[in-house]
Amino acid sequence: KEGKQSKLMDIMAVGPVNVNEFQELAREALPKMHYDFYAGGAEDQHTLKENVEAFRRITIQPRILVDVSRIDLSTTVLGYNISAPIMIAPTALHKLAHPEGEVATARAAAACKTIMVLSFTSSCTVEEVSSSCNAVRFFQLYVYKRRDIAAVLVQRAEKNGYKAIVLTADTPRLGRREADIRNKMVAPRLKNLEGLLSIEAAFDNGSNLEAYANETMDASLSWKDIEWLRSITNMPILIKGILTREDAIKAAEVGIAGIVVSNHGARQLDYTPATITVLEEVVHAVGGRVPVLFDGGVRRGTDVFKALALGAQAVLIGRPVIYGLAAKGEYGVRRVIQMLKDELELTMALCGCPSVKDITRSRVRTQRERL
Ligand code: FNR
Repeated sequence: KEGKQSKLMDIMAVGPVNVNEFQELAREALPKMHYDFYAGGAEDQHTLKENVEAFRRITIQPRILVDVSRIDLSTTVLGYNISAPIMIAPTALHKLAHPEGEVATARAAAACKTIMVLSFTSSCTVEEVSSSCNAVRFFQLYVYKRRDIAAVLVQRAEKNGYKAIVLTADTPRLGRREADIRNKMVAPRLKNLEGLLSIEAAFDNGSNLEAYANETMDASLSWKDIEWLRSITNMPILIKGILTREDAIKAAEVGIAGIVVSNHGARQLDYTPATITVLEEVVHAVGGRVPVLFDGGVRRGTDVFKALALGAQAVLIGRPVIYGLAAKGEYGVRRVIQMLKDELELTMALCGCPSVKDITRSRVRTQRERL
C-alpha cells in the first residue's frame, strides 16, 4: 500500500507520462463504485487482461535508413480527415467521471481533430454535445424493446449533424460485472433520455444496472433489423462488436458502412479472444469491401501501430479517455490522445514508416510467426 502511495505521489509531482499513469490518477480521483464501473470487466476478467496482454506478444519489425524526418499521422475514416488513426470509443456516463461529462470529451475530440462516438447512454444530450464542439461525431445505438426510443434518438442525432450510426451488437443482455454487483452500482437519473435510464424499473437483486438493462434491451435484435434501421435514417451504419470471420462476412454482405472489431472492452462475454488476436481474420474476411475499425486494450502508441499493421483503419480508445477525463477533465482527455499520438509518431519514426500507409503487415510479427 505504501509503495502504491509513493508511486502516486511521483505521478502527481511530475504529471502522468503515459496512459497507465492516468489510470492511477483516475483511481485516486473517483469514488470506488465509479472507478470499478469504468475499469471493470465481465466475470473472471480474463479477457480484460488479455485485451492488453495480447498486444505484448506481438513484436514490431523496424526498417532502418528510411527518411523519417517528417511523419504524417493523418488518415481518413468514412471520408472524414482525422489528425491520427485514434478515435474516441462510445462509453457510458461521462458525468460520473467529471461534471462536464461528454461535453468536455467532445471538446477534446475537436481540439485533437478526431472523431468522437457518443454513447447511447451518454450523460449529456446529443444537442449539448453538438452545440459545444465541431468535432466529427458518430452516434452509438443500443436498440431497446421500445423501438420508438431508438428512432427518436437516431433522428435527433441526424438532425444535429452526427455523421454515422454505430450499432452496438454485442449487448442483447448486459455482461455480468461482479464489481458492479458487489458495489450495487446504479445508473443516475439522466435528463437527456427523459428518464429512460432511471432505475426505478430495476429490481434490487444485485446490480440494478444489470437488471435494468436486461429489462430494457431488445434481445430479439437480429440481422434482419438492419433494414429497419436503414428505414429510420440516412446516416451510414457501422456495426460494433464483431469478433468472427462469419459475422464479418455477413456484415459485408448486408452492405454495412464499416465494422468495429470489439469485445466491448471485455465487459460482455468473458473468454472471448483478445480483440487484437482476431483482427486479421476479420480483415481478411471482408477483403477490403468494408473499412475495419478496432478497439480493446489500446494503451500505447505501439498498440495503435500493431492494430494498423494487422489491417485496422483506425483504433478507438475507451477507458483511457475516461481516465483522462476523471483526472483532469477536457485537458486530461486531450493529454491522453496527445500521448498516444506522440508515442505512435515515435514508433513510426523508429520503424521506418513516415506515413500511416507505410504501416504494413510485414512490420509486425505475431507469436505464431515467431515459433
Ligand atoms: C464501454 N463500452 C461501450 N460501448 C458501447 O457501444 N456503448 C456504451 O455505452 C459503452 N459503454 C462503456 C462504458 C465503459 C465504462 C467502458 C469501459 C466501455 C465499450 C467501448 O465502446 C469500447 O468497446 C471499449 O471501451 C474498448 O476497450 P478499452 O479501450 O476500454 O480497453
